[in-house]
Amino acid sequence: MITIKTDHEISKMRDAGKIAAEVLQLGGSLVKPGVSTKEIDDQIYKFIKKHNAVPSFLNYYGYPASACISINDEVIHGIPSGKRVIADGDIVSIDVGVLLNGYHADTARTFGAGNISEEAKKLIEVTKECFWKGIAFAVPGKRLGDLGHAIESHAHANGFSVVEDFVGHGVGTHLHEDPDVPNYGRAGKGLRFEKNMTIAVEPMINQGVPDVLQLKDGWTVVTKDGKLSAHYENTIAVTDGEPLILTSL
Ligand code: MF3
Ligand code: CO
Ligand code: CO
Repeated sequence: MITIKTDHEISKMRDAGKIAAEVLQLGGSLVKPGVSTKEIDDQIYKFIKKHNAVPSFLNYYGYPASACISINDEVIHGIPSGKRVIADGDIVSIDVGVLLNGYHADTARTFGAGNISEEAKKLIEVTKECFWKGIAFAVPGKRLGDLGHAIESHAHANGFSVVEDFVGHGVGTHLHEDPDVPNYGRAGKGLRFEKNMTIAVEPMINQGVPDVLQLKDGWTVVTKDGKLSAHYENTIAVTDGEPLILTSL
């Protein structure tokens, strides 16, 4: 069931989203060669707690950390670990959810550590562009298929592929709500957007093939060909005009 939020609910999601944006910025500032993903997760946990909020992912279906931190060919759901130390040239995706006053906000970015390749920079940049191309259609009357198609087209035009096995989603009192928000689709098809829908739009873009595999840890999703993947996610609200980014600073 898709829930249309009240303005008051959206303002609560904005409060959660501000903390999520701040903690993501903090996480990104810690992405450096020699730092373990566990150190970053610990800081993220502390920051969320200090703001009297709850990490949405911790214990979600048994997930053991506050953030998902995924390096290079890891697409999403990388589990922070003291043994996982960032190296120069790595690209590091941090995804974090914040629950405040009953509402979730969900946001992710890919950061570069030290000197990253031109191809890695391009992948990160195009993934961000895919998000913006997509949400241009998150307006009343346009459809989910328009949003997905815009993302897919931009990725393909740049020689990249779109992960299809994982998608964006509605967000609100639950981290994952209806509808699914795929990063692919057919223009003019699918659900129509309505004012005060809140969704997480999160392109996951691969350098090589779109296929992914799940590791034996039960969480980490990696590219099948071992090539790089980037992620860019914000929680947004549909309005009468431009979409409102709830996970902004
Ligand atoms: N953040 C993911 C998303 O963007 C969900 C992570 S759930 C977890 O939808 F359990 F893996 F943390
Ligand atoms: Co997320
Ligand atoms: Co999400």
